[in-house]
Amino acid sequence: MTKLDSMHTLDKASKIKLYNAEAFEGMRIAGQLAAQALDMLAPHVVPGVKTSTIDDMVLEFALDHGAIPATLNYRGFTHSCCTSINHVVCHGIPGPKPLRNGDIVNIDVTLIKDGWHGDTSRMYAVGEISRRAERLIEVTYESLMRGIAVVKPGRTTGDIGAAIQTYAEGERCSVVQEFCGHGLGQNFHERPNILHYGEKGEGPVLKAGMIFTIEPMINLGRPQVKVLSDGWTAVTRDKQLSAQFEHSIGVTKDGCEIFTSSPMGYNKPPYETKDT
Ligand code: MF3
Ligand code: CO
Ligand code: CO
Repeated sequence: MTKLDSMHTLDKASKIKLYNAEAFEGMRIAGQLAAQALDMLAPHVVPGVKTSTIDDMVLEFALDHGAIPATLNYRGFTHSCCTSINHVVCHGIPGPKPLRNGDIVNIDVTLIKDGWHGDTSRMYAVGEISRRAERLIEVTYESLMRGIAVVKPGRTTGDIGAAIQTYAEGERCSVVQEFCGHGLGQNFHERPNILHYGEKGEGPVLKAGMIFTIEPMINLGRPQVKVLSDGWTAVTRDKQLSAQFEHSIGVTKDGCEIFTSSPMGYNKPPYETKDT
């Protein structure tokens, strides 16, 4: 048996990997590095900055820390992060257009460190944003945390989706259904899919050792999305605002460990980016 094989066993019922303590340590390191990259960006996400500049900073940070951005040359994606502005739901492509005062932007970074994938995203407020945008960001962060709060052995993936959907819709927001969270580890995307909607009790039963993301995309308006002709950029059909937060987590004996918590405490905006 190789060292790689010894990192996990397989849950027979669901064919989902159950990772060991060494794998959790690898995910902890990769997750913290990805979270640190998002922390590093906070003071740079200001009016006038190009998302391509942010992308360059993520690449430099990764290489400086012995990591590689997982999105770089992933299925034809050629950037080091995704930057999804305003009505862009996810998979926004960094480019030369400067951020503008009042924009909200999700930055999604996945770093591969020693073979392990740390995948996390946060919302950033560019300058002064509207109250509706602030509220959407708040609801979306809370949606993620409510999903995380149900994770423990014996619960199901559907329990996570139900918690998120019930909360978000109760706040008169809607849940995007076309994209989901995912298992990860030594692969970027693997079993299970984590839907951000659904019914309690649906889906595979969670067991200690499972590792996956939760990454709800929440809209102020209708849930429907479309993908632009670039093949990546997903936008809301009604052009209303969308937000997303993402953590990579591992199921433990009595709950879960969040691998991608912010070392600086920058888990949700506003981020303290200068001394006062
Ligand atoms: N990081 C995204 C996720 O949370 C995936 C981005 S794939 C890309 O799963 F190719 F669009 F970058
Ligand atoms: Co992800
Ligand atoms: Co991601």
